[in-house]
Amino acid sequence: MSIALAFDIYGTLIDPHGVVSELQNHVGDRAAEFSRVWREKQLEYTWRRGLMRRYVNFGVCTRQALDYADQLLQTGLDDSAKGALMQAYRVLPAYADVPASLELLKQAGHRLYPFSNGTGDMVSAVLEHARIDQFFEDVISVDSLHTFKPDPAVYHHVVEIADVAPENCWLVSSNGFDVIGAVSAGMKAAWLKRFDGVVFDPWEFKPTQVIRSLDELPGQIS
Ligand code: 2OP
Repeated sequence: MSIALAFDIYGTLIDPHGVVSELQNHVGDRAAEFSRVWREKQLEYTWRRGLMRRYVNFGVCTRQALDYADQLLQTGLDDSAKGALMQAYRVLPAYADVPASLELLKQAGHRLYPFSNGTGDMVSAVLEHARIDQFFEDVISVDSLHTFKPDPAVYHHVVEIADVAPENCWLVSSNGFDVIGAVSAGMKAAWLKRFDGVVFDPWEFKPTQVIRSLDELPGQIS
């Protein structure tokens, strides 16, 4: 049986808070706080843009969220610093459990897709830099639909591209809102609970599987 696995990128395979080391050069010991505000605002902007049907791509959402964090925290970043931070976003690191797990899943005959709010260009750059691009089929980006997760259209798009029955199409994501979006749209979904204390939204949709590390995934997929 052919199984397709669509991997969320930021927060699941790639650590968005890997930008903290570059942030330390610009905002010192406020780097972790800055990174948190930046990431939260970036996601908020995607949801608001989606609802308003005022699409701009994820790179623009990321840059506007960076401007917001700078203004909120009064860190006074200049254009050169912001440019360096946006560049750092293209070379974020993969989490440690990623390469070996992808290798096992690929060897098992599954088809793996990167599936992200990020544009094809952003996602390809970060996967290549992390040296994990060789495990994947083409990037599936919401950018071609001009909307964002968790619009059901983006999950239907994954199933269509993977060309499998929805029950053979899995999302793997640490982002609860993404998992709920996929399950609501008829896919299976593994929620990667990367950190202690993270709570899954108590809605009527549950993950098909909950894993604590990607190493657990090969044994959970069927
Ligand atoms: C992604 O689509 C939601 O940031 C997450 O990669």
